[in-house]
Amino acid sequence: MRNDIFEWMGETDQAVLKKYAAKATGDIVEVGVWKGASSLVMSKANPKAQIYSIDNYAHPYEEIYKIAQETLKGRKNVHLIHKSSGEAAKDWKTKISLLHIDADHSYEGVCKDIALWKDFVDGYILFHDYTAQVFDVKKAVEENFKEVGLEGGFAIVKV
Ligand SMILES: C[S@@+](CC[C@H](N)C(=O)[O-])C[C@H]1O[C@@H](n2cnc3c(N)ncnc32)[C@H](O)[C@@H]1O
Repeated sequence: MRNDIFEWMGETDQAVLKKYAAKATGDIVEVGVWKGASSLVMSKANPKAQIYSIDNYAHPYEEIYKIAQETLKGRKNVHLIHKSSGEAAKDWKTKISLLHIDADHSYEGVCKDIALWKDFVDGYILFHDYTAQVFDVKKAVEENFKEVGLEGGFAIVKV
């Protein structure tokens, strides 16, 4: 099962994530980790950055948490946080250089994550699946930000 950890992210998007992770000058936060693939990409791209990888692994995804732990085993700069986005944001205090949002893809979910995390960011927010027709990421991002860049399947917002 470990072989298909990249099921949610193709090579083009991995390259975009790698590029932004490499230039992060401080902490990186990811909301929506799944099997750990995107966290692994960022960890390799920037071993000096601390990466906080947040996922609630709500039922029925308990087994997926174990795969993420396996994927990220030995990556000293990755901190896997088994919490919901809301719970994790409640305790958050420090600035974020790069925020990757790839969790609840509904309009309400994306708006909620923006409200929870935006003020911590001094750098970039990347929204995955921006161009995917089946989700409402685009609508939520466009309503919340005036200037939105597009690279691969990501919306890129400078904050
Ligand atoms: C598309 S997957 C993430 C894919 C991953 N970034 C990758 O590229 O492999 C979405 C993840 O978001 C998580 N998720 C959904 N809603 C969440 C929430 N409110 N808080 C934390 N995680 C959430 C799900 O458990 C799931 O693992």
